[in-house]
Amino acid sequence: MTSFKRARILSVGTYVPDTIMTNKDFESFLDTSDEWIVTRTGIRERHIVPRGSSALVSDFGTNAARIALERSGVAPEEVDGIICATVTPDSLYPSTACTLQANLGCKNAFAFDILAACAGFVYAMSIANSMILSGQAKTILIVGAEILTKTVDWTDRATCILFGDAAGAAVVQGTNEDEGILSTCLGSDGVHGDILHFSPWGEKRFMYMRGNDVYKQAVRLITEIGQKAVAAAGLTIDEIDLLIPHQANIRIIRAVGEHLHMPPEKVVTNLERYGNTSSASIPLALNEAWGEGRIKQGTTVLFASLGGGLAYAGAVVRF
Ligand SMILES: CC(C)(COP(=O)(O)OP(=O)(O)OC[C@H]1O[C@@H](n2cnc3c(N)ncnc32)[C@H](O)[C@@H]1OP(=O)(O)O)[C@@H](O)C(=O)NCCC(=O)NCCS
Repeated sequence: MTSFKRARILSVGTYVPDTIMTNKDFESFLDTSDEWIVTRTGIRERHIVPRGSSALVSDFGTNAARIALERSGVAPEEVDGIICATVTPDSLYPSTACTLQANLGCKNAFAFDILAACAGFVYAMSIANSMILSGQAKTILIVGAEILTKTVDWTDRATCILFGDAAGAAVVQGTNEDEGILSTCLGSDGVHGDILHFSPWGEKRFMYMRGNDVYKQAVRLITEIGQKAVAAAGLTIDEIDLLIPHQANIRIIRAVGEHLHMPPEKVVTNLERYGNTSSASIPLALNEAWGEGRIKQGTTVLFASLGGGLAYAGAVVRF
């Protein structure tokens, strides 16, 4: 297979379940309020699967990927690889990516999952970029899909109010044009793994989080990886048209925007309607910005995210 100068994002697709849970809905079973949640997080509502639902993350990813493929004009057989970022796979194996391959009819694709929590989509973008630039593949489908509400403790008011369920997918393809993924930077800090983790085997299984600690690390590390990605692209921050950060908390996003000297009008946010959807949050925000005409040919976008691990990642893409 030939190698390419760049890898481009051809298209994006998303899926969210129909059920909407508002902040008010939490007031019926938790000591909380719409006012507290909006002020502390910026979230007003989130799409979720009903409690006890048998919904599969692979179906979420399939729905998002079908839209991305259709928009790109790429046929399922032309896909060389599928990389699925998820912390809520259908099962440990087969990988969710293999199930996606079967559902989508991508019979010529390799497929594997990666786990980098909320940074998963940008990690997948980085891996796809490297594989395309090295000539291992021409077209890779990257997917971030999560049903996080299956992992939260609904009695823990500091965590369960934050999350929503969603999937996003993008078709990444090799090109010899100048536009495309200009840089990707990955980072991890396992020393802080305990501040956001899922319980080990054998215990009652929930997500645990020390919110304040995650908040501080998120502001620091998302800013840092964003700066690194811009420098690695050979650009300065004034040359970035849009920042698409992981949608975790509006206060984290505002602080990162300020540290990066990005004015609010250049920062994409949609967490007020979806909450934190982990690896799906970046494609969800990208899809919206693209659909609203905020991304055109030549628009340069900085992606930056952080999640459990800690794992964090940044990328600069010229569309
Ligand atoms: C979780 C988070 C919203 C909490 O906000 P905070 O301002 O840090 O609040 P604190 O944790 O200091 O708690 C302040 C008080 O609010 C209370 N509280 C927590 N959740 C509450 C809720 N949903 N409703 C009302 N009160 C709540 C706490 O119990 C605490 O009460 P106390 O002072 O009596 O002990 C915030 O820390 C955060 O968003 N962190 C990052 C989380 C994240 O993004 N994780 C995913 C990363 S990928």
